[in-house]
Amino acid sequence: MLPEGNWITRAPNLRRKAVLLAKVQDEAGHGLYLYSATETLGADREQLIDDMHSGKAKYSSIFNYPALTWADIGTIGWLVDGAAIMNQVALCRTSYGPYARAMVKICKEESFHQRQGYESLITLCNGTPQQKAMAQDAMNRFWWPALMMFGPSDADSTHSDQSIKWKIKRFTNDELRQSFVDATVPQAEILGLTIPDPNLKWNEERGHYDFSEINWEEFWQVVKGNGPCNKERIAARLKAKEEGLWVREAANAFAKKRAMKKSA
Ligand SMILES: [Fe+2]
Ligand SMILES: [Fe+2]
Repeated sequence: MLPEGNWITRAPNLRRKAVLLAKVQDEAGHGLYLYSATETLGADREQLIDDMHSGKAKYSSIFNYPALTWADIGTIGWLVDGAAIMNQVALCRTSYGPYARAMVKICKEESFHQRQGYESLITLCNGTPQQKAMAQDAMNRFWWPALMMFGPSDADSTHSDQSIKWKIKRFTNDELRQSFVDATVPQAEILGLTIPDPNLKWNEERGHYDFSEINWEEFWQVVKGNGPCNKERIAARLKAKEEGLWVREAANAFAKKRAMKKSA
């Protein structure tokens, strides 16, 4: 599981390692819930996985950014899982039952991920000047990709109107993005970190923070498969599928043998 998987062996202490392991395990579960939800629509799980490998099925743009330092793991928990919560809390009341029910459990786990990240950053930000600088560097690299997680702006979002009409989506991409910025600014202030946006400013009239335009060119490049880690991520998935083949075969053979014994 990347990028977090890379840091399990390098977590700074046993507690951090155990917490990160628990998070990674949750995320694997989230994948399973969502594949189960798609199966209720008649989709074939193997086919969906192959579609991801071939580039036909899309996945969140954020997974294509590298985690270069330990501070990135905290920042991912805080910002990336935080952005995921903003999206997914709304989806707990989406109109499609299997998806909504999966989201309830996912959100509880995501909130643990967000807190483990934030708590890890509190430690770094109260540590040595080097640790604080490491946290700021992670913030600088993850802020914009986290805002991109909400997807294209409403004007360019092709499925938004229909999804809102069918009550699959309850808020638009831009509404959720704004809520995330508004919620995150005070959290950054507590950490003493600077958000890398010179135009970030409270707008009294709107009752929201104003912020700069996102670099959409970068967003579309990542979505199209040309982000910093897209090829690496898909290669890792393919390798895992190939190397796990013998496990799946062995499990199937065992299940067959057991069924034969039962019917005998
Ligand atoms: Fe998740
Ligand atoms: Fe998460």
